[in-house]
Amino acid sequence: MTMNRRTLNTALAAAALSGMLPLSALAQKKLVLGFAQVGAESEWRTANTESIKSSAKEAGIDLKFSDAQQKQENQIKAIRSYIAQKVDVIAFSPVVESGWETVLREAKAAKIPVVLTDRSVNTKDDSLYVTFMGSDFTEEGRKAGRWLVEKMKDQKGEVNIVELQGTVGSAPAIDRKKGFEEIIKADPKFKIIRSQTGDFTRAKGKEVMEAFLKAEGKKINVLFAHNDDMAIGAIQAIEEAGLKPAKDITIISIDGVKGAFEAMIAGKLNVSVECSPLLGPQLMQAVKDIKDGKTLPKRIVTVEGIFPMEVAAKEFPNRKY
Ligand code: AHR
Repeated sequence: MTMNRRTLNTALAAAALSGMLPLSALAQKKLVLGFAQVGAESEWRTANTESIKSSAKEAGIDLKFSDAQQKQENQIKAIRSYIAQKVDVIAFSPVVESGWETVLREAKAAKIPVVLTDRSVNTKDDSLYVTFMGSDFTEEGRKAGRWLVEKMKDQKGEVNIVELQGTVGSAPAIDRKKGFEEIIKADPKFKIIRSQTGDFTRAKGKEVMEAFLKAEGKKINVLFAHNDDMAIGAIQAIEEAGLKPAKDITIISIDGVKGAFEAMIAGKLNVSVECSPLLGPQLMQAVKDIKDGKTLPKRIVTVEGIFPMEVAAKEFPNRKY
């Protein structure tokens, strides 16, 4: 007979009360969660890490945390070490979508449930993980596209767009691009004239935007950045090139971090599509539910909005990340 956590706790409590087990045995039975984080590449990621650490503490879950510095091999190593340590649950945000089958099979063979947070994997075998919780990145790209189409609806000539993509092969980079293109392709005046990765970082966002400006100069009408950090780096490049961000070049980004709100309030960023990093409480609940033997939905989607610069000052005090 398999015993879920609730049954086990009840049995332990009964044993402790009858004097068969010392009461300290109850206190020792803490759930252990191994979490393999992507890295610390953005303001979003820092908020995500903080959410996971603080909610583990609050939930009384013993968290083993590792930072993969945006390298898949480091995440795989961390997952293997969690398997070796026989943690109760493994959770991770896969840096890229592909290449996870082997390690996920190892976790399955060791009977350790896996939860995907924030980013997904592109395996066909969805028995390799219990649930995937996080944003709908394709919809975020569509929201960015719809905002642009509406903003430029009266524009007659071509609208030249440059795109700063996220990490190559990552779910948010693939899906945000797809969602954005799906919307803008309805009108041929929208043209993506340059598209390159800025790896979700400010430094790379600035560097790549400098190259875009060098190559295309004043031809650029719009910047679509897959996250706020790259947009903030690009804003610096635009200003250094003697142009006015959000005026000479319309800037759209994704995340809705405080840095983006500050840029919007300063009149330098037009809009940020929300992507919430506050996944910690949901993850801890899922860990407890799994160990209690509950069935979780395969997909848990985060509900999110969109913030144009006009509402930034009013919304800023409500922002939690
Ligand atoms: O996976 C979520 C993305 O990763 C966020 O948009 C980005 O800022 C982060 O680095």
